Amino acid sequence: MTEAERAMLAVGLMSGTSLDGVSAALVRIAEPAAGSYALDLLAFLTVPYSDPERDRLGNTITGGSARELALLDADLGAWLAGAALAVLARAGVPASALGFVASHGQTIWHEPQRASLQLGDAAVIAERLGVRVVSDFRSRDVAAGGHGAPLVPRADRLLFARPDGPRALLNLGGIANFTVVPPRGSDAPVVALDTGPGVMVIDECVRRLFPGRRFDEDGAIARTGHAVGDVVEASLAHPFFAAPPPRSTGREVFGVAYAHRLITLCKERGASAADTVATAVAVTARAIGQAAERFIPAQLCPLDIVRSGGGARNPALVRCVEEAWRGPEHRAFDDLFFDGDAKEAAVFAFLGYLTLAGRTGNEPAATGARGPRVLGRITPA
Ligand SMILES: Nc1ncnc2c1ncn2[C@@H]1O[C@H](COP(=O)(O)OP(=O)(O)O)[C@@H](O)[C@H]1O
Ligand SMILES: [Mg+2]
Repeated sequence: MTEAERAMLAVGLMSGTSLDGVSAALVRIAEPAAGSYALDLLAFLTVPYSDPERDRLGNTITGGSARELALLDADLGAWLAGAALAVLARAGVPASALGFVASHGQTIWHEPQRASLQLGDAAVIAERLGVRVVSDFRSRDVAAGGHGAPLVPRADRLLFARPDGPRALLNLGGIANFTVVPPRGSDAPVVALDTGPGVMVIDECVRRLFPGRRFDEDGAIARTGHAVGDVVEASLAHPFFAAPPPRSTGREVFGVAYAHRLITLCKERGASAADTVATAVAVTARAIGQAAERFIPAQLCPLDIVRSGGGARNPALVRCVEEAWRGPEHRAFDDLFFDGDAKEAAVFAFLGYLTLAGRTGNEPAATGARGPRVLGRITPA
């Protein structure tokens, strides 16, 4: 048995496009049988960014100098390490018990098939924890002609498939994406793509129209509003929504400018602030429903849809998604596996495990890469 095949403790670190904070998941990864994996979540937390930290991230993403990028790389490394130490402290597990840390870092620039840059210096994490670090998951897939995203589909296939039929896994993060995985054991290709915004546009509308709030807690604002139909249609006319997979996107496309256009169109029609937020919810949900309708072939029609990510905590968004994607049963990831907010961080720990074992981490059908690749970069302890 190689080192990678023993049950192993690991921490997965993720800072998503919503810029809410650093998520850290302590997991145990095991291989009960060859090619079959088990991922258990032992502890999870998110260390929220302070307002100045979030502003610094946003400003560096939109126009940081080389010096600002370099300093952010080092400081993010420290923030990621801090989140790893916090989740270990919560679980009462010493860093020395870890097999490795896997860090996605924070995406600073994502340009499909050209470059996908994540910051959060792995050397700082290795230095603070004394543990080897797997990082930089996306660049190898990009170098192989792919988008470098989405990467979660490999884990969706290996960890969360049903035995008896296809399943959709829907993540409602800053960007929304889904994977449809074939039944467990099948090596048919997955269908996976970014559908467009997840909570990114909703959050931006809330921040702009309700100063002091960062997101629509429990969907309370959207629930009191009504979506403006023609603004929904105008927003869905963006060419991204018509593009077939492989496709991936980010803040570069659905950031402040896209949200502000939606806000302006709503204002011109005399819509209230709550109507505007409800419109952002409708755009998000309709984009998901449209992508499902257009891009999932009949033989992969899922039996259920398992939602996760912070947007799954927004009942207004969840209800709208259920209306936009009819047919399969909608379920919460939490009810089937573990805390859905931890899914991405836990999945990157799993992808780190695949890296260390020398196994494929991408799904070429999802990323468009020329073939399967072992992902990531390893920084020794
Ligand atoms: N109770 C809640 N009510 C509504 N929205 C929520 C709630 N909790 C989290 N969210 C949403 O989830 C987002 C964070 O989701 P997350 O999955 O971490 O995204 P990312 O991976 O892009 O960082 C927040 O910005 C917010 O929009
Ligand atoms: Mg997050």
